[in-house]
Amino acid sequence: MGRPKVTVVGAGNVGGTTAQRLAEKNSYEVVLVDIHKGISQGKALDISQAGPVCGYDTRVVGTDGYAETAGSSIAVITSGMPRKPGMSRDELLATNVNIVKSVVMELVSRSPNIILILVTNPLDAMVHVARSVSGLPKSRIIGMAGVLDSARMRTFIAEELNVPVTEVQAMVLGGHGDTMVPLPRYTTVKGKPVSELMSKEKLDAIVKRTRDGGAEIVGLLKTGSAFYAPSASAVAMVESIHNDEKQVMPCAVLCEGEYGLKNVVVGVPVKIGREGAEQVVEYELTGEEQAALETSANAVRELCRTVDRLMT
Ligand code: NAI
Ligand code: 2OP
Repeated sequence: MGRPKVTVVGAGNVGGTTAQRLAEKNSYEVVLVDIHKGISQGKALDISQAGPVCGYDTRVVGTDGYAETAGSSIAVITSGMPRKPGMSRDELLATNVNIVKSVVMELVSRSPNIILILVTNPLDAMVHVARSVSGLPKSRIIGMAGVLDSARMRTFIAEELNVPVTEVQAMVLGGHGDTMVPLPRYTTVKGKPVSELMSKEKLDAIVKRTRDGGAEIVGLLKTGSAFYAPSASAVAMVESIHNDEKQVMPCAVLCEGEYGLKNVVVGVPVKIGREGAEQVVEYELTGEEQAALETSANAVRELCRTVDRLMT
């Protein structure tokens, strides 16, 4: 049997890096799609030519159409506009709704069993768009944000405590925006609760820096937003699906009663395996954590109402 085909849509910063990371796994066939002629073809060729040096033998195809995507197992959707300095994720809404809608329809018509990993912002709303137009079961539509936000929190904690990042576990729930819900109670260093290892002030500052983590990088780069950690996060999700790892990762999926949330896409811990989002894992939350998650879900709901208006 050949390698599974993974399509990456959008060959910009996140998409190009995602295709590179996937090629380096030496386990997939990669198709890179971009609306602008040349960019995906050029990056695909470049990534292929790194193969002999890096020791991978991955077929990477660049295209500005969808014929080559037929039969994809998984697609990572990064097509859209990134944030510019001072721009909120929500301002991207109208442009990215139309892009994601058309991309999802193109993909699903050629790969009816595909699993979609959405990356385009505003993330939770884009998962809602994909749900509205794809006809796929909810388990096959997953948003990437929590893995990235948790990775940021892990990095800040490791730096503060001067420990390896691999010893730090963190969990960030909620929407990918200002209302995201970092959970210090579920954040540990070598299994020890982080609250026992640093002062409340330091921990609060890390929670705030995590919430602002995307904006911090936009402010530094000036011409775009983060892409190394986002692509790494998307590829970790692809790997958990492909290898049926069943890792519990914070991902944006439709909640239908889990955490008391009904009919809303929001970041929650999800078991990611061969079937996609196989199960929402329900952690016990305090009243305060639950209230923060509900506030975040309500912010997503509000955005999705605007999306629905834009799509009619
Ligand atoms: P970028 O501007 O470098 O790349 C976007 C690419 O999409 C461009 O090459 C563009 O030509 C392409 N594109 C636009 N319309 C298209 C269409 N209809 N079909 C195919 N390709 C199309 O942007 P970057 O930095 O790669 O970010 C991509 C998206 O991911 C943005 O919306 C950004 O906000 C989001 N993002 C989300 C993260 C998350 O945690 N969920 C993290 C990082 C970025
Ligand atoms: C980030 O968090 C831009 O949403 C993107 O870096």
